[in-house]
Amino acid sequence: MDNSEKIKEILRANDIVDVIGSYISLIPKGKNHFCICPFHDDHSPSMSVSKDKQIFRCFVCGESGNALTFLMKYLNIPFLEACEILGEKCGIKILKKENKKNSKYEKYYDIYNKVTLFYKNNLNTKEGIKAKKYLEERNIDKKLIDEFDIGLSLNGGLGQVLLKNYDKKTLVDLDIINENLKDSFTNRIIFPIRDTNNNIVAFSGRIYNEEDINKYRNTKETIIFKKGQILYNFYNAKDNIRKAKEVIICEGFMDVIRLHSIGIKNAVAIMGSNMTKEQIKIIKDLKVSVTLNLDQDHAGKTGSIMVGEQFLTEENINLKVIVFNKAKDSDELITKYGKEDFITAYRNKIDFIDFKLDFLKNNKNLSNAEDLSKYINEAIESINKLDDDILKEIKITELSNKYNINKSTLLSKIVKNKKIKIKYENKPIEKEKLNKFKISEIRIIYLMMNYPEVINIFQKRLGYLINKDMNYLASEIVGYKLKYKEFKLEDFITHIINDENLNTVFKKVMSYNHMENYTDDELEDYINTIKLYSVKKEIEKYTNKLKNSLDINEKKELLKKIENMKKEVLEW
Ligand code: UTP
Ligand code: MN
Repeated sequence: MDNSEKIKEILRANDIVDVIGSYISLIPKGKNHFCICPFHDDHSPSMSVSKDKQIFRCFVCGESGNALTFLMKYLNIPFLEACEILGEKCGIKILKKENKKNSKYEKYYDIYNKVTLFYKNNLNTKEGIKAKKYLEERNIDKKLIDEFDIGLSLNGGLGQVLLKNYDKKTLVDLDIINENLKDSFTNRIIFPIRDTNNNIVAFSGRIYNEEDINKYRNTKETIIFKKGQILYNFYNAKDNIRKAKEVIICEGFMDVIRLHSIGIKNAVAIMGSNMTKEQIKIIKDLKVSVTLNLDQDHAGKTGSIMVGEQFLTEENINLKVIVFNKAKDSDELITKYGKEDFITAYRNKIDFIDFKLDFLKNNKNLSNAEDLSKYINEAIESINKLDDDILKEIKITELSNKYNINKSTLLSKIVKNKKIKIKYENKPIEKEKLNKFKISEIRIIYLMMNYPEVINIFQKRLGYLINKDMNYLASEIVGYKLKYKEFKLEDFITHIINDENLNTVFKKVMSYNHMENYTDDELEDYINTIKLYSVKKEIEKYTNKLKNSLDINEKKELLKKIENMKKEVLEW
């Protein structure tokens, strides 16, 4: 079975009602389901999901498609990834084209793969005994070592091996060796770092038997490694994040590895205590809940505030923070006290606003009136950033009760309805005034897409549309049916996925408020309208020519043509 067959199978095996229903709540009504359209700023359910046709359609913004295109739009993922998600649910694997091989950086990835193998192997040599013992003491077992490709750099030796096959400049640029041909990493436990496409692009090395001012040494920025664009364990965790609809953000990779070891596989690390804009975007694009799990020390808490505020700009997301006090980070908590302690902390994770309100108390003596006033003012400022007026009031009530301050005083400082805007992909389609002719073209295409027999009628009776874009879509429909001998709208949508022009026309057709059924008379009427329109256009053209012509013979001929055309029209 080739991929296009597999994609059809995937669409058959996944009911669009279940797919969309797992993200948005659907209201059944008649034959269809309805929901608030997630692609424009919708206030009443404008999107319908059809079980019969296996498509969705918003009659306000025109967004329409099948289960796969829904996922692409909703999760902001490429087509193949959407196929993977639905394929996994029904056990169909899509063969990915090896686009990795085309990458211009393939050579560098190859080098990094080789170096990783080299480091991994070191761990099993005599020189690796101490490092292995260190890992064992930290509860990193063989399985974790394998899963995270943990290795060991020794005193040197990497340069000699690699310089046989690669030039010095490349290896220096990649920060694998330095100018003096010495290894960049010596005597460190090595954690390979992968980019969002799963290529190893850097290493982080931890000291284990000797002191060094730097606990970790990281590969410096190279052509393939931009620290600010990397989230440790992202590729590996991605599917689990989608399943759990939640990403857990940790500070260090030891935390991620530890969580993984107790079965929590939706964690990534930012490798520090702040996040860059790029990292925030990678996470936001997942459209899942975010749980912050940075260190419990002051730096980690300050980091959580900075990261949290970045997440809350522009759009509102479900943001929680994990807090505990027995240990500095989750790795320590789990190794020292066991996984239950972490799971309890995880279950008791708190809203970001509560975390912030608590954090604001730092360095303040709340029994001192001046400090308390400062605290309340800062707290109100944070509460004002919430997008939900009810939540604001709840928080104000809490403050009022806790510090015995008149509630109406506090409420007077609240700014209402400062709604944080969500950026939508679409605007409602401007409903232009459609004349009878335009409606005819839109309806014919819609009927062709939903009733294959209309494709035959169209071919026999008309064969063209006058609007260039509409005609393009109509001929694509005809061509599709010719090629595949059948026409299923659900599959046709996949077929036109990469053609922007077709998609624009398709949207336009779908945004019209269509009646589902049709009668032969209705169809006949559309066909005649279009024919009539095209004859009218021709008559106009010849009438103009007639006006401008000076040649008496030509005039005669044009007049005759016009007469014939008029007759033709009357015959219908
Ligand atoms: P931590 O100091 O919290 O590391 O730094 P950790 O994960 O708890 O490590 P262990 O448990 O002591 O082994 C968090 C992250 O900050 C980066 C690393 O990515 C680390 O995972 N870091 C830390 C550095 O890059 N360099 C350093 O010297 C220290
Ligand atoms: Mn740690």
